[in-house]
Amino acid sequence: MPKRNLMALEQTLAILKPDCVKKELIGEVLKRIQDAGFSVNALKMTRLSKQTACGFYAVHEGKPFFELLTDFMSSGSCVPIVLEKENAVADFRKLIGATNPAEAEEGTIRKAFADSPPHNIVHGSDSAENAKKEITFFFTQQELLINQG
Ligand code: CMP
Repeated sequence: MPKRNLMALEQTLAILKPDCVKKELIGEVLKRIQDAGFSVNALKMTRLSKQTACGFYAVHEGKPFFELLTDFMSSGSCVPIVLEKENAVADFRKLIGATNPAEAEEGTIRKAFADSPPHNIVHGSDSAENAKKEITFFFTQQELLINQG
């Protein structure tokens, strides 16, 4: 009898950040993501206000880079994406590499394309629990259902 794969599908939130959009890297980064086995479940282009960026990164409030980060994230368009795959959260963080591109491993997206924090091309949720919160931060229930029909 063939072995059944019992690993459950998991979702994570990616954001192609304003530096990714400005460098015209949306297509290239998305191709790397899809080539790594992630399915795109929902995607949009949006621009965060300073206030919305502060809300999304509220967990970092008070840190020395908070102003720089939220200025950067509200400086241009970004592309939030709901990705799905087995072990999506951990696998996506492996694919993108360390927060600081200088420390990112060879072959990762940040190593290939990013400059220095906060300009690190792409965001990835750090846990399944946060992924759920981040997904609903950007996408309505209706938008999330579109790909299930
Ligand atoms: P991200 O994965 O979106 O999570 C938090 C973000 O804060 C991170 O990517 C970087 O963009 C930014 N960040 C984290 N550490 C620093 C730092 N030391 N200096 C500037 N920006 C940072």
